[in-house]
Amino acid sequence: MRWDFPSVHKTAEEESKSIADDKALEAFRVKYLGKKGVVADMYASFPTLAPDEKAAVGKGANDLKNFLTQLIEEKKQSLLSQPSAKKNAIDVTIPGAAHPVGHKHILTQTVNEITAIFEQLGFVIHESPEIESEFNNFTALNIPVDHPSRDAFDTFYLDTPDPSNKGRKLLLRSHTSPGQIRIMKDFKPPMAVVIPGRVYRPDAVDASHSYMFHQLEGLLVDENVKFSDLKGLLTVFCQKFFGKDIKMRFRPHFFPFTEPSAEVDIYWKNRNAWLEILGCGMVNPKVFEAVGYPKNKYTGLAFGLGVERMAMLKYGINDIRLFYENDVRFLKQF
Ligand code: PHE
Repeated sequence: MRWDFPSVHKTAEEESKSIADDKALEAFRVKYLGKKGVVADMYASFPTLAPDEKAAVGKGANDLKNFLTQLIEEKKQSLLSQPSAKKNAIDVTIPGAAHPVGHKHILTQTVNEITAIFEQLGFVIHESPEIESEFNNFTALNIPVDHPSRDAFDTFYLDTPDPSNKGRKLLLRSHTSPGQIRIMKDFKPPMAVVIPGRVYRPDAVDASHSYMFHQLEGLLVDENVKFSDLKGLLTVFCQKFFGKDIKMRFRPHFFPFTEPSAEVDIYWKNRNAWLEILGCGMVNPKVFEAVGYPKNKYTGLAFGLGVERMAMLKYGINDIRLFYENDVRFLKQF
């Protein structure tokens, strides 16, 4: 036999061990599998072989080729995974990788969108505490002691006694309107403020109700504020937030702290129905009286809008519970 196959295998294997880079690997490949390489030589010798030798050389050459192909592939992989000084060097010119760091919750985004519009219209943003007194949440807002909303079934009362009102308990505010009282006690008109925040009501949870949700209170107090100012302001706001072609309506309503009062509905295309988004009205003089403002000097407008409902209408969200479940599959859509 012209070729000693086992020893060629052995030599090649030994040689391959010292291959340290791509260049050496390529030289190895050319030596054995190249056009003029060892394996090609074997095939080239075919015509000169005796018929019985042909079969043995053919099989030996094929086996060798397969063996070398696999050997080269393995070597290639091991070179790739090998840490070389060059590969480990830090390339400071590579742009930084974009890491997903999350983003603001859709409700935070909605509050920011709403407050940005009111800021453009000259309002300032204030915050007001979630734990309130009965006075701020009800009494000063002209909500009588026997009003159903003061019932323990409609308000979360805390065990904590109210230090400013003997025998009464503090509560979780049931609306952002007590913020009006705090602002009016702290500042003198003219004023235009919005107060975003959480509110709490012991409501049964369903697709459009939750025991906790977000409101944004608005209050503008000056001399000669008119109902037309309220209508104009809220119309401009809704058009800026939802778009010019929004369908909205003012519907007469009753609130103890505004007179006259109204609710605003937005047409919900998805459901072919009207959805109430806010309550509003002209500040009741009794409220000015409760905060100690002089009689007949000021007029004002106020509104309280539901943030979740605004977001549901704008982004086509059909269940309020989605806001609070913190399922990233929902959150990352916004
Ligand atoms: N506080 C009212 C509510 O929660 C909304 C409202 C605010 C109405 C201000 C009139 C003026 O339903």
